[in-house]
Amino acid sequence: MNLRGRHFLKLLDYSKEEINYLLELAADLKEKKKERIFTEYHKGKNIALIFEKTSTRTRCAFEVAAYDLGMNVTYLDPSCSQIGKKESTADTARVLSSMYDGIEYRGFEQDIVEELALYSGVPVWNGLTNEFHPTQMLADLLTIKEHFGELAGIKLTYMGDARYNMGNSLMVACARMGMHFTACTAAEYFPAPELVSECEEIAEASGGSITLTEDIAVGTAGAKVIYTDVWVSMGEPDEIWEKRIRDLKPYQVNANVMKQADQDAVFMHCLPAFHDIKTATGKEIYQKFGITEMEVTDEVFESARSVVFEEAENRMHTIKAIMAATL
Ligand code: CP
Repeated sequence: MNLRGRHFLKLLDYSKEEINYLLELAADLKEKKKERIFTEYHKGKNIALIFEKTSTRTRCAFEVAAYDLGMNVTYLDPSCSQIGKKESTADTARVLSSMYDGIEYRGFEQDIVEELALYSGVPVWNGLTNEFHPTQMLADLLTIKEHFGELAGIKLTYMGDARYNMGNSLMVACARMGMHFTACTAAEYFPAPELVSECEEIAEASGGSITLTEDIAVGTAGAKVIYTDVWVSMGEPDEIWEKRIRDLKPYQVNANVMKQADQDAVFMHCLPAFHDIKTATGKEIYQKFGITEMEVTDEVFESARSVVFEEAENRMHTIKAIMAATL
């Protein structure tokens, strides 16, 4: 398998075999890290991390993975680069790729990262756009594989707002890997019909399936993975909160939801999660709407079924695999 020079913009661009290769590489790199076997495969190379939105996991995963591969990192935060303000995406791509061996981008529309890749002479990795979050997908797939030993045939149920990067990306990932994806939410929050159709075609070929349902009993029955994400995405205005909470409250992941899923089911979340009021946002929401937990209850988040911190750790091993393979 040779992925050298490839961009990593969305999972739709990668075959099942290529994804499996990256997962196996990530597992190997994870093992090596635990055994303190050094993996400086790209010693002396330099990468640029463009973050137009905030991040904990993705930034740290890219930085630690880069250092483990022997590389140097430049971090460009939302306020310190010219990108999109004084300098076009195309010009930024040509400047950065003349100095760096790889570029990560977290920001807004998928078109921006696609344009960055078009004009870049070095691999571009999508660290999250409005539409897709592909590096998160590899971490999620690795976590599921570690728990269940396989991906094919696993039912993953996504509860909440399935119209954006997480719902879209999980649907693509499941379709590609022969898994059964279910969006269990109010119909208004189903993924876009065009992407659903594309994923149905992919799932037909892989042995997977796509289901959209408002019925919690149908959505959770037999599910090995119950997945959710915040109900309001990065960048959405505050006015959205009230309606979103009202619409999605029935789809909160709580003990009753977990009881209806498979007896071995795990709970997953890309994080950060609103499961208590120990954060500034949590306190603000509590003051405005009187709720102390949102997409997931604290009980489920802290339960033995929750694998969210293993998932978070796997961000680093899988991002390392992407960089190791594409550079
Ligand atoms: N899951 C995720 O992308 O986390 P960050 O926003 O902290 O990078």
